[in-house]
Amino acid sequence: MAPAGAALCLGLMELLLLRQVIRLLATQDSGFCSTRSTVLAYTGGTFDAKGAGYWACRKAGKSCPPPTRVSWSPNTDGIHIQSSTGITISNSAIRTGDDCISIGPGTKNLWIERITCGPGHGISIGSLGDYLVEEGVENVTVTVSVFTRTQNGLRIKTWARPSNGFVRNIRFQNIRMRSVFNPIIIDQNYCPDYRCPHQSSGVKISGVTYKNIKGTSAKEVAVSLGCSPSKPCTGIKLQDINLTYFNKSATAYCKNAQGSSNGIVVPGSCLS
Ligand SMILES: *[C@@H]1O[C@H](CO)[C@@H](O)[C@H](O)[C@H]1NC(C)=O
Ligand SMILES: *[C@@H]1O[C@H](CO)[C@@H](O)[C@H](O)[C@H]1NC(C)=O
Ligand SMILES: *[C@@H]1O[C@H](CO)[C@@H](O)[C@H](O)[C@H]1NC(C)=O
Repeated sequence: MAPAGAALCLGLMELLLLRQVIRLLATQDSGFCSTRSTVLAYTGGTFDAKGAGYWACRKAGKSCPPPTRVSWSPNTDGIHIQSSTGITISNSAIRTGDDCISIGPGTKNLWIERITCGPGHGISIGSLGDYLVEEGVENVTVTVSVFTRTQNGLRIKTWARPSNGFVRNIRFQNIRMRSVFNPIIIDQNYCPDYRCPHQSSGVKISGVTYKNIKGTSAKEVAVSLGCSPSKPCTGIKLQDINLTYFNKSATAYCKNAQGSSNGIVVPGSCLS
């Protein structure tokens, strides 16, 4: 089934690059994509112009600015969004070896609903902040979704390097976790290969709400909010959280993370 699945996915990417408004229903019994997926893309016209221009630039063999991109590939990220406004991703089962959905710079007004993710690395905003000058991510909602045995659930990840990037006004709500290694994680200390010695992330994270998130963590630290020392996270909200570590209690870790909690929050909030 792999070839059929792969062909469908790559076809989808091309369609998304070429068409302004696409509604695609794909149904298949098995394979790398979903059993029944709906990808609705509403754009303000950004797909056409930039996509076509980008590929023309690439074909001419030049060094090209990052394109507007929505890709869906079987072996890497399930769906990658960046430089895009007003996209909706819904009703999809994503099984992959990397992020189920990854959200890159310049993503605005993204709505993700009714996704099942797993296996995979979860839904990730980032990695961001690899560049000094980078577009931010704002207005992202992830709702009514389930993560099963994934490496991460809801992740925000930035390089520990200077950047003018930002992440703001994010809502993660109505989520079920089943044996997820990092159900809730902010990691602003990402730096493989020691490419950022003694540096901290310049990406400012603010206004992130986690609401009604329940289930099981496969690691004792179920909530890990590791923010930048130079740009602490602000306006983090935790509400109605209950994550357990098998039948023991899970723990929460905070560093440079400010905000508030209300309702039941288990493990207890460590926000300052
Ligand atoms: C993001 O949402 C806020 C209100 O929630 C709105 O004021 C702002 O214009 C939105 N940003 C974009 C890029 O549309
Ligand atoms: C949290 O979930 C566990 C497992 O479902 C449950 O036993 C426990 O009562 C819940 N805690 C609260 C405070 O709701
Ligand atoms: C859960 O707790 C019970 C009673 O303490 C214990 O017998 C059982 O092995 C525990 N299960 C797991 C998965 O840790």
